Amino acid sequence: MSNQYIENCVDQFRTILEEQTARCKMMAENRVVTDYQALDKIIIGVVGGDGIGPIISAEAARVLEFLLKDEVAAGKVEIRNIEGLTIENRMAQHKAIPDDVLAELKKCHVILKGPTTTPHGGTLESANVAMRRELDLYANIRPVSVPEENIDWIFFRENTEGEYVLGSRGVEIPGTLAVDFKCTTDLGTERIARAAFEYAKNNGKNYVAIVTKANIMKKTDGKFTAICHEVAKDYPGIEAEDWYIDIMTAKLVDTASRSKFQVFVLPNLYGDIITDEAAQIQGGVGTAGSANAGDRYAMFEAIHGSAPRMLETGRAKFANPSSMIKASEMLLRHIGYTEKADKLIKALSICNETERKVVLTGHEDGATCAEFADYMMETLEKL
Ligand code: IPM
Ligand code: MG
Repeated sequence: MSNQYIENCVDQFRTILEEQTARCKMMAENRVVTDYQALDKIIIGVVGGDGIGPIISAEAARVLEFLLKDEVAAGKVEIRNIEGLTIENRMAQHKAIPDDVLAELKKCHVILKGPTTTPHGGTLESANVAMRRELDLYANIRPVSVPEENIDWIFFRENTEGEYVLGSRGVEIPGTLAVDFKCTTDLGTERIARAAFEYAKNNGKNYVAIVTKANIMKKTDGKFTAICHEVAKDYPGIEAEDWYIDIMTAKLVDTASRSKFQVFVLPNLYGDIITDEAAQIQGGVGTAGSANAGDRYAMFEAIHGSAPRMLETGRAKFANPSSMIKASEMLLRHIGYTEKADKLIKALSICNETERKVVLTGHEDGATCAEFADYMMETLEKL
């Protein structure tokens, strides 16, 4: 019996290797880069998601539309709602992203996405992971800043491979063992490394931390480190230093030295974990936005989940849209509206920190998400 299991596992492993080799070939051939300035119209898709997602994304989109009202009126920007990326619809169709939803997403240039529910266990894949793969959003860019502590970090998390690409494709001999796969490719690593070093170069940064566990994950993380150093050679003046993920998690809470870090580049799972830690240092995962950028498409989202408990207890309308507003800021920057992005982040800081005329608590004693969005727009009007 066990022999048959082994044979099946080996067959599956062969299929995986063939598929991943084919993916590498596609990566090499399909480098279409969107030039937003050259487009007649930029289409921004808004996806609600689950739990508090529809509320916070609708309110963030309302603020975004307010900021882009001239461009929308002139037909240079369209803000389009994309329906159907809900847990109910995904479960009914047993698709991480139903085909019609994916087709609509591919008609947009950039996407603002609310959090989606990821079922534990079972075989339904996370919508996030599927979207990152389907739209080849290989760079997960997560900034964290705490100005009063001189912290200005930006994480370049590889977003399409590593532990995630085959996460739903592990093998098992029931009652005996289970194996998952981690896959790191040369091209996949090169492009995330280049994104990190380009960012460093264009933003006056001179230090990139390459974070892995290459002493243990010798093949995959070993490759990741080696390729990052290869890419670093094209960027003289930028120091590239290796760090192991375990000590890096400690360093991020070391107040004496953490402000020296600037840019981080790291494989998928380590990036997932450490960016939650970093966001917590900034004030919580609810305060962080995240860009998922590829050459062709880009998607912007909050880094927190869909908070189903807030929905169940009737508190969804009191949810805080700050993370989605930060995601909108990154979206604006990505499509070239730098001044509007600066304005948006300035208004957010006035509303949340300096002025605080409308305060969200997540409960009935605080403002609603919609009231906060109105306050944001009043503030923007004055800037
Ligand atoms: C994130 C999230 C996702 C991830 C989940 C929802 C699949 O934690 O964006 O960091 O693990 O990447
Ligand atoms: Mg995460």
